[in-house]
Amino acid sequence: MEVRKAVFPVAGWGTRFLPATKAMPKEMFPIIDKPVIQFIVEECLDAGIENMVFVTGRHKRPIEHHFDINTDLEKHLENCGKTELLKNIMEISRLVNPIYIRQKEQLGLGHAVLVAEPVVGYEPFVVCLGDVIIRNEQNVISRMIEVYQRFGKSVIAVFEVEQKEVSKYGVIDGRHIEKDIYIIDDLIEKPKPEEAPSRLAIVGRYLFTPRIFDKLKVTPPGKGGEVQLTDAIKLLLEDEAVYAIKIDARVYDTGTPIGYLQTLIEFALQREDTRDGMMRFLRGLKIELSEV
Ligand code: G1P
Repeated sequence: MEVRKAVFPVAGWGTRFLPATKAMPKEMFPIIDKPVIQFIVEECLDAGIENMVFVTGRHKRPIEHHFDINTDLEKHLENCGKTELLKNIMEISRLVNPIYIRQKEQLGLGHAVLVAEPVVGYEPFVVCLGDVIIRNEQNVISRMIEVYQRFGKSVIAVFEVEQKEVSKYGVIDGRHIEKDIYIIDDLIEKPKPEEAPSRLAIVGRYLFTPRIFDKLKVTPPGKGGEVQLTDAIKLLLEDEAVYAIKIDARVYDTGTPIGYLQTLIEFALQREDTRDGMMRFLRGLKIELSEV
């Protein structure tokens, strides 16, 4: 069955970024001039998925405006002759088919995914966390779709983290089958480093068979009193196999202040129009830092 829809659970409060996130979704924070969420939406578009289901909350309206057509702005840019900018803002709103659904109560990531069930229906779908940008040679979602097409089962992207970092992630216990593919035996959400079954951490890209919805309905609250997606995947293992692909990618976690800052600096160093200015600034800073 074709994978046609991606779910973005974006209803969270963004408490790590308060007060900035009181009125502005963290998914709309700019990486120079493009909001974080647009990078992830573009990753889905590149993988051939156009239907994006945003599970939102009451302070997430800017996401809706961003993917909408803004005819006034388009006219203005056209009148000023700013054709490059015009092309840029026209493209994204025309390529994406956004669907918005409210998560009325924030009961956890697993609950947010379950809220999308009436829109997704009984078909395989992708889940993308709205604050993780991934730079990989091959598009990670495309690779997950390939593996899904081969086995017909759910696929989760994982990456290797340091032992002391495992408690920030869902961690898998898996057996290597071939190349980048693992079959999952068990999962644990945010384990203590000494309890982690591996260093393979869930990165924030999932491809699920619709059976996950049945499991989410019976998943009790877990870590932090929230319905955890990782716990639902563990229940899914009782009925069907779940695969993992290990990616060797650059992962940008923009969901924490330090991760966001690192992302900004790295992207600025990679972009032609900002590289020199940022280099000059960092070189100057080095002198000051060595004096601290
Ligand atoms: C969530 C998931 C976790 C996953 C992580 C990836 O945690 O619960 O399993 O490893 O995203 O970023 P969060 O970062 O929302 O606490």
